[in-house]
Amino acid sequence: MLKDLETVYYSAEQLQEIVQGLGRRISEDYAGKTPILVSILKGSVVFMADLMRAVTIPCEIDFMAVSSYGSKAETSGVVKLEKDLDRKIEGRHLIIVEDILDSGMTLSYIIQLLEARHPASVRICTLFDKPARRQVPVHAAYAGAEVPDEFIVGYGLDYNEQYRNLPFIGVLKREIYNG
Ligand code: IMP
Ligand code: MG
Repeated sequence: MLKDLETVYYSAEQLQEIVQGLGRRISEDYAGKTPILVSILKGSVVFMADLMRAVTIPCEIDFMAVSSYGSKAETSGVVKLEKDLDRKIEGRHLIIVEDILDSGMTLSYIIQLLEARHPASVRICTLFDKPARRQVPVHAAYAGAEVPDEFIVGYGLDYNEQYRNLPFIGVLKREIYNG
């Protein structure tokens, strides 16, 4: 796997610092509430596992899966719900936990879907934000780090379902995803 990487972008230790900071902010902002952390499968699972343990207030978790058609390195904007939440969310405070906010297509679809169920609030917590690539206006209340327009993998993020198990974030060599 390592030979496919250009550079290591964030070490495991740096990721822990970022995630701890996000957990602290969420714990302060949601004190007295019991938010539901909604993890978007599969890219956010590693982040979710660390983030939920960095949150020090009572919270619940749930999972949702969507798929989007398109090339392997880009979304097409056509999003389909593959797995819905297990529980009702009416009147609840939701924090959507996502690996990376890119074009914004995926999250704008998810937000629309969830808003229709009348939660008390919906906010996004994304580990990474690629603002240069945004096509629809989506704002993340919590963003771990801004990244440039490069394809990154590891810590849950994949290319063609692989590299998710790397404990750090690396930049994938262009020759891998440009064929
Ligand atoms: P969006 O709908 O374009 O915002 O796409 C977001 C999804 O695209 C993320 O949940 C990732 O699965 C995927 N994605 C976008 N950029 C990257 C990247 O650099 N590495 C890995 N996956 C990415
Ligand atoms: Mg993905």
